[in-house]
Amino acid sequence: MTTTPYPPGFTWGVSTSAYQIEGAAAEDGRGPSVWDTRCRTQGGVVNGDTGDVACDHYHRWEEDVALMKGLGVDAYRFSVAWPRVLPRGRGVVNPAGLDFYDRLIDRLLESGIEPWLCLYHWDLPQALHDLGGWSSRDCAGWFADYTALCAKRYGDRVKRWITFNEFSVFTLFGYAIPWAAPGIVDRTQHLRAIHHVNLAHGDGVSVLRALVPGASIGAIHNRQIVIPETDTADNRAAAALLDEHWNLVFCDPQILGHYPLQTADHIAPHVQAGDMARIAQPTDWFGLNHYGPIFAKADPSRVWGYGWGDAPPDSPTHGVGWAIFPDAFRDELLTIHRRYRLPIVVTENGCGGSDRVEADGSVNDPHRIRYLTIYNEALRAAMAQGADVRGYFLWSLLDNFEWGSGYGQRFGLIHVDFTTLTRTPKASARWYADLIAQARAPR
Ligand code: NOJ
Repeated sequence: MTTTPYPPGFTWGVSTSAYQIEGAAAEDGRGPSVWDTRCRTQGGVVNGDTGDVACDHYHRWEEDVALMKGLGVDAYRFSVAWPRVLPRGRGVVNPAGLDFYDRLIDRLLESGIEPWLCLYHWDLPQALHDLGGWSSRDCAGWFADYTALCAKRYGDRVKRWITFNEFSVFTLFGYAIPWAAPGIVDRTQHLRAIHHVNLAHGDGVSVLRALVPGASIGAIHNRQIVIPETDTADNRAAAALLDEHWNLVFCDPQILGHYPLQTADHIAPHVQAGDMARIAQPTDWFGLNHYGPIFAKADPSRVWGYGWGDAPPDSPTHGVGWAIFPDAFRDELLTIHRRYRLPIVVTENGCGGSDRVEADGSVNDPHRIRYLTIYNEALRAAMAQGADVRGYFLWSLLDNFEWGSGYGQRFGLIHVDFTTLTRTPKASARWYADLIAQARAPR
């Protein structure tokens, strides 16, 4: 593989999200989100785990910023919990919630770490869901108002803004394949959610442009090649539709101004005059979350006729069973570069497992170091072939609440004991700190 060194000015970071780390779910006036509800739904989350306490970051944020500082990162991507700042999603503001992010942002800046603020990482206020949530067109306006609140409050110090994290995961798994909140299975609601989230993104970008001078705005897309589980006509058709829903229905309208082929027909009844221009607001960079390829198979029991297939039995996988396929990462970066012509920031890449603290107090995660090493080689290979990649954020700083999989799947550089909440850096934390230091060393 031909590789290239990381260029000067390349941003090194770590990512987290509010619901996965904050805890303090009912404290200081935070309202419930659709994920609080999901966690209380029978079968919603493995073991009945919840984000009520999570990593208790709401109280331990100072320790967590110090841990980031120890890694030597340039930047930290986190999300604001919409129901913490607007407990009912709109209307009455919660000052204690706003103050929390003020403190965090100030400490990050004092520590030389740039805050990258993501407005939406899946925790829709339950009160808005009760009014129709993303299947209601009004939700775009509610999101724009929430964006304006954050922009006015934090825009003097935060210049890196992200509208949404992984659009297709929360819409597909929230409205078609019920693996995430709100767990609805309905084609029409899925299509409406796609379109309204696109409108919310476009409106959010417009609000940020108007209210935050010098803002650098991106959106985060999970893009992964979709491979038919076996090469049959049915599986190929399944993969083609899943590819639209997973990889195209957000990037294409937001950046190219149109929906992809099959979706354009399906979604037409929900699109009004002027919508496509409202959605396609120029952004400054493309955020990519990438872990490995996905496999599709025809599954008539599912609402769109496709389901999740398995990787070939001999594929290498990481601790949570996902296929390891670094060439697909390289190719994805090159595809984005050619198709969307925007600078790219890798906003998530990482490796799950079930790491534990050894008797001597260490946490050894060679599987994660191996994965990260080969994925970073693939990243540099893509850059050598022309992909304009400006930064890399590792998922995640801490072991945390892995949505429907609860606390069993650990993605952190820092181990969290979910009983004592003790943080222990893993071997991969040292590896990442060394990678950053070497990348910065004068050549
Ligand atoms: C995607 C999501 O953005 C994040 O919330 C999740 O924990 C990781 N990837 C790992 O699945």
